[in-house]
Amino acid sequence: MTQVDFASQEFLTNPYPSYARLREAGPVHRVQGPMGVEIWLVTRYEEARAALADDRLAKSLAHAPQWMRDQQLVSGEDEGVAGRNMLDTDPPDHTRMRRLVAKAFTRRRIDRLRPRIEQITGELLDGMARQREVDLIAALAFPLPITVICELLGVRLEDRDDFREWTRMMLTAPLTEEGAAQRERARRIREQYLATLIARARARVDRAIDPDDQPDLISALVVAADERDQLSERELLGMVQLLLIAGHETTVNLIGNGMLALLTHPDQLRLLRDEPDLLAGAIEELLRYDGPVERATPHFATEDVELGGVTIPKGSAVLVGLAAADRDPAHTPGAEELDITRADRGHLAFGHGIHYCLGAPLARLEGQVAIGGLLRRFPELALGCAPEELRWRPGGPVGILRGLEALPVR
Ligand code: HEM
Repeated sequence: MTQVDFASQEFLTNPYPSYARLREAGPVHRVQGPMGVEIWLVTRYEEARAALADDRLAKSLAHAPQWMRDQQLVSGEDEGVAGRNMLDTDPPDHTRMRRLVAKAFTRRRIDRLRPRIEQITGELLDGMARQREVDLIAALAFPLPITVICELLGVRLEDRDDFREWTRMMLTAPLTEEGAAQRERARRIREQYLATLIARARARVDRAIDPDDQPDLISALVVAADERDQLSERELLGMVQLLLIAGHETTVNLIGNGMLALLTHPDQLRLLRDEPDLLAGAIEELLRYDGPVERATPHFATEDVELGGVTIPKGSAVLVGLAAADRDPAHTPGAEELDITRADRGHLAFGHGIHYCLGAPLARLEGQVAIGGLLRRFPELALGCAPEELRWRPGGPVGILRGLEALPVR
């Protein structure tokens, strides 16, 4: 069994050399994490893509191994609300839940948000212009996506520090008894917060209005749940929670990791400044090169599954290494290099299959507006510290996210 300490500082700072070694050794690994827990990790592109599309590798928490329950990493089907969002379910429940919000995230609907996203970005860039040195995460990468998702959902912006806090509590808790207790506390606080949010929406919605015409997504979901029986109470809470977390914890990292990659590759940065038409392709390359989601959320084997010549036993938890797969040289020649002119060969940064990121059009748009805006507005932008001094945020004990604590720029 291979030892990988996902939470170690070394791994957090730069997991890519470890991934290269693992990829070389094989496509699928039985890995021992902290506290001796056993988990499977997929590191090569072909197998990663196949795993994401394999319906024997389910998402429903009913299939999760006991140690994940003991650690409060998942809650059982009948406990709490956390277990009922589309990302943690399989068809037909997944299909029903995803359909309810899919319309709000189509490319056309998202394109209509462009002027508002540009306006928010413009204001944040104005704020940056007044300082010589600034933390790009605090000044732009964090506030932009959170403001957008709050407006889309109908959540008060002043609440944002609260839900950032419980996300952080979940992510920083180690795989220990104390860590499990911390996760349990965070879960309770979060559930209370979400219940209040929904109660507020219930008090304001006009039930005569069709869900599609409601002014915000939470109102639309409340009507879908109350008037049409399309969503249970737990699913309603789970959906709002997923959209809040997915909508802000990821795009932060696209802007942060993406700008770090450009600032540490001056030739690529110059090229993008000289040829702004490369922006859309550059965003795809930044997603591939150092994407926001390092590993997909766990899948669970509902039977013995053979993948890349390895048998994953029934009941196992499987992590698909999106970042490892996206640097697989067998799929992307010269994969360790950043090349913004590269033709996209189908990176996995947004996942693949039925759980492919619902928010991808929104994330791409925010990434383009933020990174494009930064480069236009600040042609002399430079990194404010040595890359080795940067701190990476803990992505959780089995870690899924990869992002910077802060990104000082001049
Ligand atoms: C799912 C990546 C932004 C909403 C996913 C998945 C990935 C991903 C990899 C699949 C996760 C898995 O299989 O475990 C990203 C990245 C983003 C981003 C890299 C930013 C650059 C967003 C935004 C939203 C969003 C802005 C909007 C609310 C969702 C939802 C799902 C999802 C709802 C679950 C879809 C399903 O289960 O059918 N995302 N995401 N994401 N994402 Fe995103």
